[in-house]
Amino acid sequence: MLLLFFGPSGVGKGTYARMFVERNGFVHVSTGDILRAEVASGSKLGKEVEKLITSGKFVPQEMMNPLLKAYLEKIDYKHKKVILDGYPRSLEQAEGSKDFLNFDYLLSFEANEKTLVDRLSKRWTCPKCGEIYHEINIPPKVKWICDKDGAKLFQRDDDKPEAIKSRLNEYKSKAEPVLNYYPKKKVLRLSADEDMETVYKRAIKVLKL
Ligand code: AP5
Ligand code: MG
Repeated sequence: MLLLFFGPSGVGKGTYARMFVERNGFVHVSTGDILRAEVASGSKLGKEVEKLITSGKFVPQEMMNPLLKAYLEKIDYKHKKVILDGYPRSLEQAEGSKDFLNFDYLLSFEANEKTLVDRLSKRWTCPKCGEIYHEINIPPKVKWICDKDGAKLFQRDDDKPEAIKSRLNEYKSKAEPVLNYYPKKKVLRLSADEDMETVYKRAIKVLKL
């Protein structure tokens, strides 16, 4: 089974994907994580990617697609239950992935802008296991220390106000049109303004899992 997790920055795609991994045995593939790993590798491509990500701009198709395809092949995605989080993010990507992305459903998570900005500006992430926290909504037991492995949490460089604004604009202009590209029966739209348990249960119900 292949699910696409779609939605603006901060809507909770990564958070719900982690719940699906722990509770429903899915593998989580995040294009944002793939790009951040490329940045961390220090490669020439990673340096170009870093500039785009920190300014809140989407990465062009010719950089994104080869990285994603290589990653999917490496994990043998056709024989696994996979959540693809953050792809496609443009009509160009939707069109260009027709041949290899034979997905079951696209889940479009939706929340109001105030919620998104609040969630992003108070997000803390574990560098070791990727666990995602929020200062108020989902705080760690001990301030800025991961509950799972004790690592020191960090805030993402693209969670600064200017970059958040740019990411939300990029989503509106480039990603949202993707929703009308696919057949309506494959697109499931979900409200994600509520707490993560409520949103997770809503997703499970609509997918009949
Ligand atoms: P990516 O890493 O995918 O970032 P994003 O889409 O901007 O989304 P986020 O990861 O910021 O938010 P999320 O929806 O996962 O929310 P989260 O679960 O963390 O991409 C980063 C960049 O890479 C892009 O800007 C672009 O430059 C590039 N890129 C990636 N894919 C690309 C592509 N296909 N093409 C081109 N460029 C690409 O939750 C956010 C916060 O809210 C957390 O604090 C969490 O604890 C909290 N929270 C979540 N859900 C709830 C809830 N229900 N209630 C209360 N709090 C909640
Ligand atoms: Mg994410």
